[in-house]
Amino acid sequence: MDSLTVGLENLMRENVVNRHGSLAHSHSIYNPLSERSLRGWYECSRAVAHLLTAHHIDLAPLRILDLGCGTGDWLRWFAELRGSSDGLTGVDYNAEPLAWARAVSPIEYVQGDMSKIGKLLSNRQFDMLTAFVSFMFLRDLDEVAVVMRQARQLTTKGGYFLIQEVNGKRHEGDYSGYPRAALQATIEAAGYRLLGARGLFKHVFGIRRLNTAWHVYGWNRALLPLIEWLPGTDVQSLLLFQTD
Ligand SMILES: C[S@@+](CC[C@H](N)C(=O)[O-])C[C@H]1O[C@@H](n2cnc3c(N)ncnc32)[C@H](O)[C@@H]1O
Repeated sequence: MDSLTVGLENLMRENVVNRHGSLAHSHSIYNPLSERSLRGWYECSRAVAHLLTAHHIDLAPLRILDLGCGTGDWLRWFAELRGSSDGLTGVDYNAEPLAWARAVSPIEYVQGDMSKIGKLLSNRQFDMLTAFVSFMFLRDLDEVAVVMRQARQLTTKGGYFLIQEVNGKRHEGDYSGYPRAALQATIEAAGYRLLGARGLFKHVFGIRRLNTAWHVYGWNRALLPLIEWLPGTDVQSLLLFQTD
């Protein structure tokens, strides 16, 4: 395993599971301390590590802006990996998770709507923008395009955009995600090209319980390579882009 993946796996164990003792047994995947959320986060962080190392991306010098950062979990991971919270910024329109995020780390948080990100952070430049399951709360792909055009303006030449999003058949409001190809095309139209992609939370043979994240991690992680190899449907995608 590469060092970034090992680092992320150690962080998961030492800084997440141990820090909070036994995991909360809430079934909400959006409760950052719930068992389901942590397992999902674990699988996603593994995929993030693989994508970044495959493309030789060193997080350390990058100024990173996280769109829809919520409680700032991803930014804190980046800070721990880099050994510093300098150069990390989160945006969310919801005051409650930001208050929590501000209380636990010195990372910069800005309250506001990502569809107005150009105005909110005018004259700022970032080397990487990220969006972890936050675009599904935008109205539709037209609004995604609005956000991405502004995101492009805030991104340095050669900078990156990393997104985790639900693969929806069609966008039907919050949580429903977008068809992957349409989301990719919308991002590319704003001036990005796809560098790499990973599927997340695969359902094997269409069986919801035979899933790479929620169930397999719990009782037998050794089965993961087999499940990854079997045919199935990815519930979410992780897409990495670079500016044209
Ligand atoms: C499912 S949570 C994900 C939080 C975080 N990215 C994570 O992965 O832990 C989605 C977040 O996006 C934020 N959000 C949704 N639409 C937004 C918008 N238009 N502008 C800013 N934040 C938004 C919500 O407030 C929420 O915190």
